[in-house]
Amino acid sequence: MFPEHRPRRLRSNNTIRKMVRETHVLAEQLIFPLFVREGKGICEPIAAMPGQYRYSPDALTQVAKDTVEAGIPAVLLFGIPAKKDSYGTGAHKRDGVVQQAIRSIKDAAPELMVITDVCLCEYTDHGHCGILDENNNVMNDDTIEILAKVALSHAKAGSDMIAPSDMMDGRVGIIRDALDESGFENLPILSYAVKYASAFYGPFREAAGSAPAFGNRLAYQMDPANVREALREARFDIEEGADIIMVKPALPYLDVIRAIADEFDEPLCAYQVSGEYAMIKAAAASGWLAEEACIMESITSIKRAGADMIITYFAREIAEILS
Ligand code: PBG
Repeated sequence: MFPEHRPRRLRSNNTIRKMVRETHVLAEQLIFPLFVREGKGICEPIAAMPGQYRYSPDALTQVAKDTVEAGIPAVLLFGIPAKKDSYGTGAHKRDGVVQQAIRSIKDAAPELMVITDVCLCEYTDHGHCGILDENNNVMNDDTIEILAKVALSHAKAGSDMIAPSDMMDGRVGIIRDALDESGFENLPILSYAVKYASAFYGPFREAAGSAPAFGNRLAYQMDPANVREALREARFDIEEGADIIMVKPALPYLDVIRAIADEFDEPLCAYQVSGEYAMIKAAAASGWLAEEACIMESITSIKRAGADMIITYFAREIAEILS
């Protein structure tokens, strides 16, 4: 007790503060999400995500090089097809927008790890993450067959890691089998194991044009009130063959990240989603928050909660701040 204990001794200057620091943010554990749309020479700003763009596959080459230059090891690709249909067939075309983007990035920056999001919501005309029955319910078992095709088409195009984000039951297992059968047994799966039905995806849905045309995603994404369910979801995905598990969103779910980190040995990823990005950007633009400090504080807290790697739209700003 005071005056014997004086914790301020270890905060008195930057040298000692650094020496006792418990959590470190590393550029080498950041993943930068990118939106790719059909076309040529396109770099289109996303209104709800200032500083983020929709790129055509050819325009990604410069971004890929800059990302490597910045010390960011990986990107996560989301595709926005020119045409959508009720089955999301654009998602597994050999020459689909993501498949083209993978090849274009691999040509420009072979050392950049390309992770590909596997979901149907950007490719279906109704905006749901799977295909619908006559009552507009998302059909689980038929959807995962399609997702396996999508994953395989990404693998064939050169993806370095498959990231299913649809929240259908059993999709990790069926994707693992499809990859193994085609000789991709060494391709890892980063599973969106714990994905909540979050309002913080709003800006993403504008960016990807993937908002559901009717209803919501409550019948497949998780209830924000649940944490024991998160442990079950993670366990099932690990049993089905997930190599890395993810919690999404990040900041409103730090307790969930901590619970998963305590329970499982698998590497853990957290996704600082579009709404988390937009909040900081908007407040900073109004002069209400200090942008850099808030970015670093939020990322540090996600790491402190137990995440190993972090998907963040701030990846390049963070790399810049760290250097
Ligand atoms: C696709 C998907 C979404 C996000 C990642 N993959 C949107 C959603 O589930 O509606 C959100 C990412 C973000 O908000 O940054 N299912």
